Amino acid sequence: MLRLENVSKHFGGIRALDGVSLSLREGRITGIIGPNGAGKTTLLRVMAGFYKPTRGRVYYRDRDVTPLGPHERARLGIALTFQIPRAPPEFTVGQLVQAAVGKAMYRGAAMLAERDRGEVWDRVHRVLERVGLSEYAEREASQLPLGLQKRLELARALALEPRVLLLDEPSAGMSPEEARELAGLVRDLNEKEGLTIAIVEHNVPLATGLSHYMYVLHYGRLLSEGEPGEVLRDPRVIEAYLGAGYARG
Ligand SMILES: Nc1ncnc2c1ncn2[C@@H]1O[C@H](COP(=O)(O)OP(=O)(O)OP(=O)(O)O)[C@@H](O)[C@H]1O
Ligand SMILES: [Mg+2]
Repeated sequence: MLRLENVSKHFGGIRALDGVSLSLREGRITGIIGPNGAGKTTLLRVMAGFYKPTRGRVYYRDRDVTPLGPHERARLGIALTFQIPRAPPEFTVGQLVQAAVGKAMYRGAAMLAERDRGEVWDRVHRVLERVGLSEYAEREASQLPLGLQKRLELARALALEPRVLLLDEPSAGMSPEEARELAGLVRDLNEKEGLTIAIVEHNVPLATGLSHYMYVLHYGRLLSEGEPGEVLRDPRVIEAYLGAGYARG
């Protein structure tokens, strides 16, 4: 569905990604784990078109999308959530989701006709309900607790009506209870709505519980890949990332 071929991304002397080839299979959840600074966020941003790779190509449904920026890729159905929520001040939750719905409906047109507003708001409310934020529609987004801002990130991505959803540490800042609910939501989006999903997580049990297939990044390279059980047992992964605690059981 979405495929990276030998992708490198350098920032000055830093090789954030160094010759990575991987693919997100259609209709599957792909987990991406690895230590801090391994290149996970950079990888998602290359997929979504926010970064141009220094080398290598990105393919979406066998089309080379490497030259396309984030707006063009969103139009093709690729949506990214951000690790750090980026709600601008003074906008309500509803307004931010509305802006994303508007983008999806009008593909860049600035003005909404009066008669379309009802349709837009219907969609906004559907998306807010989907992520459990209905009661927060009128609240100022930047004032919400982090866990709810993370859900808002998800809502803004869903409002674009993507086919591929790229999630950057969606459970960071959430309570265990919130993280469980998030996991249920992600699984539903995959199973009931057929979304292809990539999830970057430091919450390893959450990632392995959801993923059909996993990649482990380390210093910008692929250290391991396979089904979650295989990856968790891989001695290289245990040594570089998981620690000895995971080796038992
Ligand atoms: N815009 C940038 N400019 C310069 N260096 C960057 C930039 N983005 C990332 N890097 C560097 O690239 C490397 C990979 O960073 P990246 O954010 O992709 O890691 P990560 O796996 O997402 O880490 P974390 O788990 O902490 O979120 C790091 O060394 C980081 O400092
Ligand atoms: Mg990151």
